Amino acid sequence: MEKRERIFEGKTKIVYRTDDPDLIIQYFKDDATAFNAAKRGTVVNKGIVNNRVSSRVFEYLGSEGIPTHYVRRLGDREMLVKKAEIVPIEVIVRNKAAGSICRMLGLAEGLKLNVPIFEFCYKKDDLNDPLVNEYHIRALNLASDQEVDIMKWYAARINQLMGRFFADLNLELIDFKLEFGRYKGEIILADEISPDTCRLWEIGTGVKYDKDRFRHDMGDVEEAYQEVLSRVEG
Ligand code: TMP
Ligand code: ASP
Repeated sequence: MEKRERIFEGKTKIVYRTDDPDLIIQYFKDDATAFNAAKRGTVVNKGIVNNRVSSRVFEYLGSEGIPTHYVRRLGDREMLVKKAEIVPIEVIVRNKAAGSICRMLGLAEGLKLNVPIFEFCYKKDDLNDPLVNEYHIRALNLASDQEVDIMKWYAARINQLMGRFFADLNLELIDFKLEFGRYKGEIILADEISPDTCRLWEIGTGVKYDKDRFRHDMGDVEEAYQEVLSRVEG
């Protein structure tokens, strides 16, 4: 497998072509953004942490029957993945209230939700990734009804699996964001799963080990990312 030219650069990753048309390389940067890039910064070695943590999580989910784009980790910052067509929807699952749902519904941070909440956001940077529902998705043809059902089913199963995975590391999975892609006629899990895309609170102390430390200038950002990596790689 040979690395070829850059195809795309996003806020936190660069994507490269390979000599195999079905495979691409995700390169993880240290760049951090929040609130739709209104806040920008760098978290030293975040790219390494997110690549290594995502790799472990994808391996685990794959071993539990969730199809993912992950092929293998190539180094500290690179992951070989299947070239999927990204569904322009972010699927968010929430177990406890934090972040935007607290602002939207006036909830106290940490409120236990009676059942997990599933949200969809339309991936559209210039609109700040607005919250949409299944009617919007259908009306705008963002995904088929069948694809939406599959994404919801996988998201629920991933919530169970990742909840257990992180609880074993003494971290509570508060919420997370998933992206899916279309690959050879199937829906597969794509993008990354990392402290950028999950909220993780230490069980017992409630200490935050995720990107909220960067979003809200809480300090010890690098240390928190490193701690997640060391627990995940145990
Ligand atoms: P939110 O509370 O800001 O809506 O975020 C919910 C979860 O989704 C949280 O774990 C962070 C993650 N997330 C992303 O990964 N990317 C994003 O662009 C946003 C807004 C949230
Ligand atoms: N990733 C988003 C941004 O670029 C939002 C977030 O994670 O808070 O701003």
